[in-house]
Amino acid sequence: MRVAPSIIAANFTKFQEEIKRVEKANADLLHLDVMDGVFVPNITFGPLIVKAINEITDMELDVHLMIVKPEKYLRQFIEAGADWISFHAEATETTDECIKIIREQNKKVGLAISPPTPFDRVKKYVDKLDFILIMTVNPGFYGQKFLPEILKKIEQTKDWIVTHKPDCLIQVDGGINSRNVVELDRAGVDIVVAGAAVFKSDDYKKAIKDLKCLKV
Ligand code: DX5
Ligand code: ZN
Repeated sequence: MRVAPSIIAANFTKFQEEIKRVEKANADLLHLDVMDGVFVPNITFGPLIVKAINEITDMELDVHLMIVKPEKYLRQFIEAGADWISFHAEATETTDECIKIIREQNKKVGLAISPPTPFDRVKKYVDKLDFILIMTVNPGFYGQKFLPEILKKIEQTKDWIVTHKPDCLIQVDGGINSRNVVELDRAGVDIVVAGAAVFKSDDYKKAIKDLKCLKV
């Protein structure tokens, strides 16, 4: 299991230190939640901050765009240093175009779906994706409760991927902790995003190790 700590749960007055701490604690990716106050009822940051973060860490940046019309901003986030980019299927009418823009820049492309969106709606895009991001909370805030009913969607996605595009990874995001990660691991999830479970813990190294489902 790869672990991507989500920076919005960090202490923003100690931003740089927080990033260094998760890097030292063997985080695989750094998850950056971009919110526009339109697609979700919260606002975070844009490409300027992504660029600054890119300058202070060697971790790969996993940018999760929760913004309407992502096609307008993809290039800016890529220029800012995004290595992995996901955008929401619900937020654009030009999913194919968004995938193409990210692909052309040789970045990892992910399509995200919120809890109400069925997997069937995005099935047709899977063969062009590096990963699919299945939200396990309604996007907008860290620290929410994991929605157990999404497990079925994860299993259904896994079944499809195994037969149609085995190298497409499954990322899940929202309310993940050291307990529910076991079930997600079993369901074939490849990457977990974790905000509170890492940044609100006392020991980042232990938190990340537990999420990696390492047996030793
Ligand atoms: C929710 C964000 C998540 C969130 C994860 O809209 O996309 O990345 O920050 O935080 P936790 O793990 O605390 O739910
Ligand atoms: Zn996220």
